[in-house]
Amino acid sequence: MARTLRFHVFRYNPQDPASTPHMDAYVLDETESMTLYIALTRIREEQDPSLMFDFCCRAGVCGSCAMVINGRPGLGCHTKTADLPERITLLPLPFFKLVGDLGVDTGTWFREMYTRVESWIHTEKQFDPASEEERMDNETAEQIYELDRCIECGCCVAACGTARMREDFLGAAGLNRLARFMIDPRDQRSDKEYFDVVGNDQGIFGCMGLLACEDVCPKHLPLQDQLGYMRRKMAMNALTRILPWKK
Ligand code: SF4
Ligand code: SF4
Ligand code: FES
Repeated sequence: MARTLRFHVFRYNPQDPASTPHMDAYVLDETESMTLYIALTRIREEQDPSLMFDFCCRAGVCGSCAMVINGRPGLGCHTKTADLPERITLLPLPFFKLVGDLGVDTGTWFREMYTRVESWIHTEKQFDPASEEERMDNETAEQIYELDRCIECGCCVAACGTARMREDFLGAAGLNRLARFMIDPRDQRSDKEYFDVVGNDQGIFGCMGLLACEDVCPKHLPLQDQLGYMRRKMAMNALTRILPWKK
């Protein structure tokens, strides 16, 4: 028998001076293979056209539909209601600027983070559009591809205790992004230059290592491995600065 789902959804429009943060309740009959995307779209079409939330690809690719689902950050389009109890509480991701109801602005944070980690290949080589592609061994290319699968959903940052305490923390997404360039043989930055970006409390030394980030990452990125790798590398770099015989 089809279940009756009870949604409790955070509502607040920061653009509207009359709006105050509160929860609204909606009741919906569950249908087969219903996702939160389908449920929220039906609520908006059938019950409340003012409800705000973000979706784009509906396939776990664009990262725009992340929200807190019964206390856990996740993708709305990839979450089946069948995997949830009848009472479903939806909140916007914390940490990011609220656009309205369940919609947040992750783009500004990611853009700033990419600028801080200088998310581009640093090389002295001049670009020659007529030259052949630079070759790379398969294993390295696959390692880079693995880290490049991040869809910028923000779930890892929203789940991160350090990010909640300090706004300038790069988060697992930022550390993962820099790890991607550390692996890339075309990036000619030295360990010292990487250290200057992440060898501090805004970077790897601010990470508490409890790995909520990896637990909630919908793309199952190996964040734990990257954090461990970077911590070891940056710790060695710090040692070479204070212990001259380590140089
Ligand atoms: S392991 Fe580090 S980056 Fe991941 S959630 Fe914990 S503090 Fe944040
Ligand atoms: S690392 Fe995972 S959880 Fe974090 S932004 Fe990328 S895809 Fe989302
Ligand atoms: S709508 Fe694109 S990831 Fe969910």
